[in-house]
Amino acid sequence: MVNKIKVENLSCYYNKKCVLESLNINVVQNEILSVIGPASSGKTTFLRTLNRMNDLDITYSRKGDVYLDDNNIFDMKMESLRKRVGMLFAMPIPLPMSIYENIIYAPKRLGLITRESYQDTIVEQALKDASLWNEVKDRLNSSATRMSGGQQQRLCIARILAVNPEVILFDEPCSGLDPVSTAKVEESMLELKQKYTIVLVTNNVKQASRVSDRTAFFLMGKLVEIDKTARLFVSPKEKATEDYITGRFG
Ligand SMILES: Nc1ncnc2c1ncn2[C@@H]1O[C@H](COP(=O)(O)OP(=O)(O)OP(=O)(O)O)[C@@H](O)[C@H]1O
Ligand SMILES: [Mg+2]
Repeated sequence: MVNKIKVENLSCYYNKKCVLESLNINVVQNEILSVIGPASSGKTTFLRTLNRMNDLDITYSRKGDVYLDDNNIFDMKMESLRKRVGMLFAMPIPLPMSIYENIIYAPKRLGLITRESYQDTIVEQALKDASLWNEVKDRLNSSATRMSGGQQQRLCIARILAVNPEVILFDEPCSGLDPVSTAKVEESMLELKQKYTIVLVTNNVKQASRVSDRTAFFLMGKLVEIDKTARLFVSPKEKATEDYITGRFG
């Protein structure tokens, strides 16, 4: 088991108020780690810290360290961190351009396309890995905004994959989707873990139990429990975890 990410004694604050306290957690290479917990428990703050999305927020501060392989992410150049750690948000927002252009946009901007002829290969591979290729291969030049919600979300996944990251962070990726679209995004996540390491924040405990290898339960800024998903859902060690996963919470 190789630890892809190591989080050591991480505490996060907004306006000096602690919202994540002394967190120690590892993410294993090629696993899907789910993070579950009620609203305001610090899940999004945790994800945003992993690729330094909060760096520009002047009310935010942190203590502790995060390592990607053995590099401290706070010592890395922002651009190289963002290439290695991609993030997907709840609401899919494709750029108002074609499907093809959406995918090629970031690799172009980051200077990853060395040969023009290479573009088609990147687009095809990203769409295949996001389980979208068969649905859109005949209309790559049509507008991305005309796709269904579920397709748009998988397009946003493909856009991340086109940059060829090592880690993908998902923040409630299915919260606006119907069950069929949700199943497709989950299917694509299971495909993705062959190549990538995934952290999935979800407000859907069933989703965590379906797709993840391990699950972490956050409550009011603290990690209550982390375990193999199969074990955590069958025999949680903490009462709070049990109450949450059985829907008895609050
Ligand atoms: N930009 C911000 N400025 C100030 N406070 C913030 C900011 N972002 C989050 N918070 C606060 O930090 C705490 C943790 O929020 P966070 O968004 O990480 O929780 P969450 O577990 O993702 O919740 P949800 O399930 O509602 O998405 C909350 O009390 C929230 O109000
Ligand atoms: Mg959140």
